[in-house]
Amino acid sequence: MDALENILNRVSARALSEPYPSKDEMDIVYKAALRAPDHAWLRTSSFIEVKNEGLDKLSKVFEEFAKDDKNLSTDVIEKYKNAPYRAPMIIILVNSFKEHPKVPAIEQKLSTAAAAQNIMLALNAMKYSCIWRTGKLAFNEKVQAELNLENHQEILGYLYVGTESGEKKKVPSLEIENFVSYL
Ligand SMILES: Cc1cc2nc3c(=O)[nH]c(=O)nc-3n(C[C@H](O)[C@H](O)[C@H](O)COP(=O)(O)O)c2cc1C
Repeated sequence: MDALENILNRVSARALSEPYPSKDEMDIVYKAALRAPDHAWLRTSSFIEVKNEGLDKLSKVFEEFAKDDKNLSTDVIEKYKNAPYRAPMIIILVNSFKEHPKVPAIEQKLSTAAAAQNIMLALNAMKYSCIWRTGKLAFNEKVQAELNLENHQEILGYLYVGTESGEKKKVPSLEIENFVSYL
């Protein structure tokens, strides 16, 4: 696919089912992720790939987190429990903060966000679809601990991945003049 066409036509998808990318395809996707700009080459981005029984483990983690919140109804707890099954594969975006005199935490997170976009574009080029979700389950110390992450590590989001099973969204048409100014 033409590189610009790939960028201009990428849309997120909510209805995702199999097939999901193979190991060989995911190797390329992660290579693309690791070509994100990265101040001082700190390599703070990493990814947890979840599929098959991993989805069951993640479902348990989400359910336990929801059950801990005494304000949540059983319906909402069920929603958290079922969240991982919205796609056949999930990539958890992790940022591992590293002390550096010139690279503050925000820049390190921006680099992982750029890696996420590279992942989404690589998947789109391979005719897969995905959506980036956060909600209460991201930036969440309890969930992070359950996933064996350390204190300096943070979940910036979940990329739900698969093949679009719904109708492909239209790319919104936006007026460039509303977003760009010239000095
Ligand atoms: C950091 C971040 C977090 C997001 N979290 C959610 C979320 O929790 N739930 C959701 O429905 N969309 C979320 N979105 C928005 C979708 O990923 C998507 O970008 C949006 O639906 C617009 O669709 P488009 O990418 O096709 O333009 C998030 C986007 C970003 C960048």
